[in-house]
Amino acid sequence: MNSKQIAGEKACDFIQDGMIVGLGTGSTAYYMIQKLGDRVAEGLNVTGVVTSKATEKLAVERNIPLMELNDVTEIDLTIDGADEVDEEFRGVKGGGGALLFEKLVANVSKKSIWVVGEDKVVATLGAFPLPVEVVPFGYKQVERQLEARGYKPKLRHHEDGSLYLTDSQNYILDLHIGSIANPEDLNNWLNNLPGVVENGLFLNYASTIVIGFSDGKVEVRDK
Ligand code: 5RP
Repeated sequence: MNSKQIAGEKACDFIQDGMIVGLGTGSTAYYMIQKLGDRVAEGLNVTGVVTSKATEKLAVERNIPLMELNDVTEIDLTIDGADEVDEEFRGVKGGGGALLFEKLVANVSKKSIWVVGEDKVVATLGAFPLPVEVVPFGYKQVERQLEARGYKPKLRHHEDGSLYLTDSQNYILDLHIGSIANPEDLNNWLNNLPGVVENGLFLNYASTIVIGFSDGKVEVRDK
């Protein structure tokens, strides 16, 4: 079992009968959804709220009942992956491009758990490129402002060279910052830039992280 599978499956233990559960996106959340599918097949009664089209497809395949985000007032628990998480449980997300829906779901969740492999826990955020979702119209103006601040934005493409579009048909600029000295300041500045839809800094969402280790161990850390 790899560290992602260990973390993803362990986090499933937090899901209780009757819950509305936010279903994260990515290769670690994948294992949580697979396990949840097994539990649903055994009779667990839950309703999922998805964070991407990819996760919706997976949840439908596993027969997990779903509701639209619009139709819930609150989500009991969201389990999602992260690209980086620091000691204060601040994180970078959006490597899989689902940052906007993930933040919308996290924002109405009573509790958020992140599932990560040990390599994702860092002292300082920023080594992983920070995704910024931007509207296509005039995006080069946003890119220029990011360049002027030294953030080295790179327009995201698929491996085959085609342009990456989010589920909302927006672009992603990945910022190669290296080390983010003050995530709160950067988050505020990005959120005030016209053309920016959302950014991948998730600063006050996770209260628990489940860390999988390559030697098979798992650690649950509470904030
Ligand atoms: C998708 C995300 C993912 O949760 C994040 O990229 C981690 O992915 P993985 O578990 O595949 O490493 O934010 O937008």
